[in-house]
Amino acid sequence: MNKKISHKIVFSYSLLILFLVVFLLVFFNDLVRNTHLGIIKDEMAEKLRFVELMVYRELTPGSDERKLREIMADASRIMALRITVVDLDGRVIFDSSVKRISDMDNHRYRAEISRAISSGSGESIRYSNTLRIDELYSAKFISPYVYRLAKPLYDIDRNLSAVRNMILSLGLIVVLISVAVTVYISNKITRPIKATLYFARHFSEGDYTRRILNYSEDEIGEVQRALNKMADMIVDKINGLLFEQKKLETTLESISDGIAVIDRNKKMLIANNAFLSILSIASSVVNRPFYEVIRNRSLNSKIEYALEAGSSIGFEEHLIGGAVLDVIMKPIQEEKALQGILVVLHDITEKKKVEQIKTDLVSNMSHELKTPVTIIKGYLETIQENIGNTEQVRSYIGKAIANAERQNAIINDILKLNMIETSNDFPMENVNLKDVISGCGELLKPKALAKSIALEVDLGAVDESVQTGRFLAEEVFFNLIDNAINYTNEGGRVAVTAEKSGDRKMIMISDTGIGIPRDAIDRIFERFYRVDKSRSRDTGGTGLGLSIVKHAADMLGWNIEVKSDNSGSVFTIIV
Ligand SMILES: Nc1ncnc2c1ncn2[C@@H]1O[C@H](COP(=O)(O)OP(=O)(O)OP(=O)(O)O)[C@@H](O)[C@H]1O
Ligand SMILES: [Mg+2]
Repeated sequence: MNKKISHKIVFSYSLLILFLVVFLLVFFNDLVRNTHLGIIKDEMAEKLRFVELMVYRELTPGSDERKLREIMADASRIMALRITVVDLDGRVIFDSSVKRISDMDNHRYRAEISRAISSGSGESIRYSNTLRIDELYSAKFISPYVYRLAKPLYDIDRNLSAVRNMILSLGLIVVLISVAVTVYISNKITRPIKATLYFARHFSEGDYTRRILNYSEDEIGEVQRALNKMADMIVDKINGLLFEQKKLETTLESISDGIAVIDRNKKMLIANNAFLSILSIASSVVNRPFYEVIRNRSLNSKIEYALEAGSSIGFEEHLIGGAVLDVIMKPIQEEKALQGILVVLHDITEKKKVEQIKTDLVSNMSHELKTPVTIIKGYLETIQENIGNTEQVRSYIGKAIANAERQNAIINDILKLNMIETSNDFPMENVNLKDVISGCGELLKPKALAKSIALEVDLGAVDESVQTGRFLAEEVFFNLIDNAINYTNEGGRVAVTAEKSGDRKMIMISDTGIGIPRDAIDRIFERFYRVDKSRSRDTGGTGLGLSIVKHAADMLGWNIEVKSDNSGSVFTIIV
């Protein structure tokens, strides 16, 4: 484009100059020719007066034609002009350029001669048939003849062509100089335009650091300043937008809820990582139709509905893997037209589980508490009926007391669990774990002995003091060793061993017991959960022991790992 501008300038200026030169050429040509002719004409008129003077002076009335010819021959020589003398009938009396005048035609009707006859003098420029050149004729009537002077025009033509050549060469020089000057000027004009264009092109291609460095001192300079200012503003705006976008992205990514925006053309515009991971989407989603990305028919049909209805909807969605989502779809409207929808997925799987656990807990608790009371009531009624039978009454009272104790044990466990759960301020003290675990072993030894179970405790690796809560630690180890004895058949073996692994200590409680089915391992820490309810009841178990262990370990920051198969179980506590 800049090339075109300079070309345009150079071309139009050159054309203008060329036009001026041609105009001057034509104008000067005419001017010079007319001036020249005027001078020659004046000169001829003067020379005719000179001829007239000679005629009056030299020729007396009655002089013959011969004398006339002699005088005219002299005059022609002196003036170096052709002289023709014609009488009023047009007969040529004398001609300085022609030997045999008798051969010459009648000149009566030559323009200059007939004008001289009629008005005293006449002129004409014509081609001379006699001499075969262009001549300027000037005639004067000097009674009784017409005297005519003739001057060949090739002199004028020669002068004219010299002038023309001069104008031409001058014109050429002027054209050349002007073209050079115009090229220079046009370059000067277009240079800042080029610089501006160069800047604009680079800026539009994304080089936002580029600016115009040297302003020209004219209107283009103003434009350049304005453009630089505009570029600064655009860069500021872009940076602002980028910052806003970053903020939005960071916010979206830090939200644990799945968030996506789907436009009215069913294309995904935004989807945060939580959205992708909740719906197990691995591919990129932006600008793809939602039904290609989300592989959930029920969810997709609801998205379709929300896009069509343009109203908010909320529902619970159960995914195939067992996850439960609280889904909210809200229309996004701009100027009353639906632009798309916002989809929010809130994972409520855990909440649902907790709700379920709570419901189970209430029913389990009431069941567990009701059972011993029912049994006690049964014994008391039997006692009432058999009050006389002392032997039987004693036995029933014993059984009733045992159930009351069980009831008491359950209530104690519930209270203990509640206490661990609600209190977060257990005293921390220097505790030797070896002592704590050995103490638990001692308390449970009689129980092991009663079942002929070998209880082996080897705790060399943890014979040192650690900062921990004594009460909680005792709960953990007592319950685990108690379980190991409870769920191991007579003649089995329970071992408590310890190992050090880096900073951490591992205490393993292993048994050769009945083991825990694989699918039950995840549930044994739930309240009241027992793999085999009848067997647990035999052992007096309520299913709260491991719940207490789990909560206590959590409070102390300990981890628990469970491994089990049909040859026994290993509970590992990592301190
Ligand atoms: N070492 C083990 N070997 C086999 N099964 C076990 C073992 N420890 C726990 N279990 C299983 O896990 C269930 C839950 O244990 P938990 O200690 O919570 O309850 P419990 O022993 O039945 O009753 P308690 O509240 O008296 O401890 C047990 O009923 C049992 O089925
Ligand atoms: Mg137990």
